[in-house]
Amino acid sequence: MSEPEATSESEAQPPSPIAEPAPEPVPVPPAVASGTGTPVVLLHAFPLDGRMWAPQVEALAGSYQVIVPDLRGFGAARDQAVEEAGMDLLADDVARLLDDRGLDRVILGGLSMGGYVALAFIRRHPDRLGGLLLLDTKAGADTEQARADRLAMAERVLAEGTGFLPEVMLPRVLGKTSLEERPELVERVTALVREQDPRAVAGAQRGMAARPDSTDVLAGVAVPTLVVTGEEDTVTAPEVGRELAAAIPDARFLLVERAGHLSSLERPEVVNEALLDFLAPIWV
Ligand code: MLT
Repeated sequence: MSEPEATSESEAQPPSPIAEPAPEPVPVPPAVASGTGTPVVLLHAFPLDGRMWAPQVEALAGSYQVIVPDLRGFGAARDQAVEEAGMDLLADDVARLLDDRGLDRVILGGLSMGGYVALAFIRRHPDRLGGLLLLDTKAGADTEQARADRLAMAERVLAEGTGFLPEVMLPRVLGKTSLEERPELVERVTALVREQDPRAVAGAQRGMAARPDSTDVLAGVAVPTLVVTGEEDTVTAPEVGRELAAAIPDARFLLVERAGHLSSLERPEVVNEALLDFLAPIWV
């Protein structure tokens, strides 16, 4: 009998699988939770972090489980910064946060950018919503000019850091009364803005520039909603808030006098009273 023919290595062994790169772990946003009861998740504005909700946490945590995440790159989420933090990505982050905490449904609130994320959440995870709080926010997309300004700020903050931001942002986010009469608040917001990571600021600006118009989701909002707008808000004027509330079937509107865009920080006593009143009959 003749010897079997030698086989080459490639015939003798199955081809080794091509190593796939390990998928990036999808992060859960870091969040601070206080109190027990019906869960209320509060999403912060740009360019701040969850600490902006301190007055609401203090007022609500006696009766609710208040959960305050930091969105991609901001605050304690510094390591989660991405080049473009789109509203859908941030909404899915919030859904993952709920999964992580075993929460099916929550009352979701957001101020300005936080509101844009809440509107994306409604589109993507409507069944997880038990109530909605929209503060100083709007459903519309950006104009071309606003988009260009955001992209320019993204470039500038990456090149220069956040040092210039308070000068640009404070007159936008604080009302006239706060700028003139609330020096401690001006100082606190200045520090919060300055502390943010430039990559977070750039990522959020790119994400907001790319956000779609969300007007189409408003008529389908099937939960009780509170819309709040500062009387001196120049970013989302009171009539914008009123229109937002009018487009949502079960919504009420609160105008906060002597407050600007950060109404919950500028007149916490007024906003907290309205939140407690609104939340009282809602169970999720
Ligand atoms: C915010 O407060 O989150 C920002 O003003 C949102 C925006 O720039 O549109």
